[in-house]
Amino acid sequence: MNLYRSILRPLLFHWDAETAHHATIAACRIAGAIPLAPQLMRAWYDFAASPLESNVAGLTFPNPVGLAAGWDKNGHALRLLDSWGFGFAEIGSISAAASLGNRRPRLFRLPQDRAIVVNYGLPNDGAEVIAQRLAKHRIRRPLGVNLVKTNQGPDAAASSAERIVDDYVCSAQAVHRHASYLTLNLSCPNAAGGKDFFAQPGSIRQLLTALLPLEIACPLFLKVAPNPDPAEIERLLEECEPFAAVRGFLFNLPVGKAASLALTTPRQVWEKMPGAVAGQPVAALSNRCIAEMYQRMPRDRYVIIGGGGVFSAADAYEKMGLGASLIQIYTALVYEGPGVVGRINRGLLQLLAADGFSHVGQAVGSGCRATL
Ligand SMILES: Cc1cc2nc3c(=O)[nH]c(=O)nc-3n(C[C@H](O)[C@H](O)[C@H](O)COP(=O)(O)O)c2cc1C
Repeated sequence: MNLYRSILRPLLFHWDAETAHHATIAACRIAGAIPLAPQLMRAWYDFAASPLESNVAGLTFPNPVGLAAGWDKNGHALRLLDSWGFGFAEIGSISAAASLGNRRPRLFRLPQDRAIVVNYGLPNDGAEVIAQRLAKHRIRRPLGVNLVKTNQGPDAAASSAERIVDDYVCSAQAVHRHASYLTLNLSCPNAAGGKDFFAQPGSIRQLLTALLPLEIACPLFLKVAPNPDPAEIERLLEECEPFAAVRGFLFNLPVGKAASLALTTPRQVWEKMPGAVAGQPVAALSNRCIAEMYQRMPRDRYVIIGGGGVFSAADAYEKMGLGASLIQIYTALVYEGPGVVGRINRGLLQLLAADGFSHVGQAVGSGCRATL
């Protein structure tokens, strides 16, 4: 019997999506502070298998399945997250100043599509507060910290380039020593102010130049809009080229609800839900972005962290075949619970063995030619 699907999920889904999210984080925070609770969870969920271990961008990952940004925005659940079998976790997005995010309601479920509609607008406690929290945490597995420009609300005037860049610099300064890697979120689909800035040529170079004086020792990843247009990918690669700290890319959610997402939930249900779609409907777009990036990027320097609609080992393996070295999940955690991490990892072991691979790195890019 699957405890999460049969008991916990019906209880959580009884609440609206945001209340359920906050309740889950609060429960994880409390459980993380109870002596022996994380250890017991670890005994239940943890997963290690040498074929899944890899060294990516100078970091050691015990398995390739990580938690995507946005679930633990403020780093409250880290102690418990460490015991769910994830190979790594990313917290945030974090901004220089604290933000309340967008107006509620701003989080919705589309169970028929195994999707979530999100319009959070980057609420978080702010970089300084979160840095203090991170300073008390003992990192057991790679911990990513995702940075974004502060959301000043829908009525705020557009920010200048200097202000946008300063916001990232300020957050990076506060947290970089507490992170295994930093992700610069350049494309939040729901935040006003700053989201189009990085579509302008030269903007990424401007940000990376401003970060240089911080002498950030950990790798940087850029989370960009999911645009598989070769010209956009070439621009991104060109702007990153002089900055050795940049070691790879992630793709964010697409803005709005494009027809290409092929939602099966009736339009009258989702059209009143503001925000971007996460989960199964974004898998195909994310896969196209991964494949296109893998074909074009210098592979001795960059890696791809692939997310978007991963629910099973087959979904994860497909992204790896297209070129992702690591995988992130979010929506699957909501629909399947923490047991999904172990299921994906166990399935990956079987898929690797079936293809005659002895190590997860051999699967990366192994299927990209067939798809393009
Ligand atoms: C409720 C929710 C909040 C999110 N918040 C963030 C965020 O703050 N920063 C970010 O970079 N991505 C955020 N994301 C995007 C996820 O990190 C991930 O890229 C995306 O959900 C695709 O993975 P999935 O299909 O497994 O959910 C959020 C996603 C969801 C569903």
